[in-house]
Amino acid sequence: MFSSIIISKFKTTPTPFYYYDVEVLKQTLSKLKAESDKYGFIVHYALKANANNKILNIIKSFAIGADCVSGNEVKKAVECKFKPEHIVFAGVGKNDAEINYALDHSIFCFNCESLQELEVINTLAVTKNKIAHIALRINPNVNANTHKYITTGLEENKFGINLWELDAVVDALNGFKNLKLIGLHFHIGSQITDLNSFKSLCLRVNEIQTWFINHKINIENINVGGGLGVDYYEPDTNRIPDFATYFKLFHDFLELRPNQKVHFELGRAITAQCGTLISKVLYIKKGVNTNFAILDAGMTELMRPALYQAYHKIENLSNQQLTTNNQQLKYDVVGPICESSDCFGKAVNLPETFRGDIIALRTAGAYGEVMSSAYNLRDRAKAIYSDEI
Ligand code: LLP
Repeated sequence: MFSSIIISKFKTTPTPFYYYDVEVLKQTLSKLKAESDKYGFIVHYALKANANNKILNIIKSFAIGADCVSGNEVKKAVECKFKPEHIVFAGVGKNDAEINYALDHSIFCFNCESLQELEVINTLAVTKNKIAHIALRINPNVNANTHKYITTGLEENKFGINLWELDAVVDALNGFKNLKLIGLHFHIGSQITDLNSFKSLCLRVNEIQTWFINHKINIENINVGGGLGVDYYEPDTNRIPDFATYFKLFHDFLELRPNQKVHFELGRAITAQCGTLISKVLYIKKGVNTNFAILDAGMTELMRPALYQAYHKIENLSNQQLTTNNQQLKYDVVGPICESSDCFGKAVNLPETFRGDIIALRTAGAYGEVMSSAYNLRDRAKAIYSDEI
């Protein structure tokens, strides 16, 4: 995956840092566009996955919209020149300043998650004499079969309006004169690899649509959220997610009304495979049953393993030639942070590893750099890009 020129660049760049392969990102976007365009589907990129300016600019150049979950994300999307009519704004806890900013920029749609939120957006829109376009985020009660921290579409989760609340919400909407209902929004979770979960979502959306039709409410837009998973185990073999099967599934199972548009909010599937966290081995230390490889990157740079026990493939780029099993040793690959959970992998097979070796943590382009923190007063890792080397 990494050429010798790139590896020598890694050796002379201060670690840790994020490396982004711009070509991988562009290939992913081309495939995404080709497959979604087949059905006229509209894709919004979930900024929460990675909000680097350079990455956003590339994504925008493929005529993709923006999915935001905070006022600052909306601001970032506006600054990066995503068209306001291509920006959606979700989130269970939008504050007044964030709503006002989005109203001022006449974004495409607020994905609303509670009755009280509808009331607040209406009140703020009245003050500005604006009509806010809204979609109801409905909790479809569909299991995404993913990690419990990234499951969102079950009634026990905090997200969305529950099905049993719909009557009350629709009644209230009649009184909210500065809101225009333009769509329904769903999102069941993230890193979904069992595509049957999306089929279940489609079937549930069809039932919910029938409810709206029976209530004589016309819905122009159906937003099915994001969540398509990526292959953390074989990033080189499966570099680009199977967008063809994914979009076809929605085409096959969603029952659309005439002129209805379908929207998606993909994050991870777009940016995960283009990013790698590059780190250096600081120390090798003997443990009781294993060796520790102590890196100069930790949970502060890549929090997913500590937070979700997530797997990221770990490669020693300085010593790649030793690959047969009998030449490999087992290492607990850990970071320098004062927390036992600061561990990237236990009993990881690596060739014999030494102080100064370059270690790659793969598939880190989504929910990596954006989730980094300054805990232990750590410096923020910088980003470098393949086309600037
Ligand atoms: N739309 C909504 C409403 C969302 O909540 C999310 C992600 C997305 C779209 C984009 O989902 P994606 O296509 O990226 O799966 N930090 C976690 C992931 C949290 C996802 C939160 N919501 C992780 O590192 O796995």
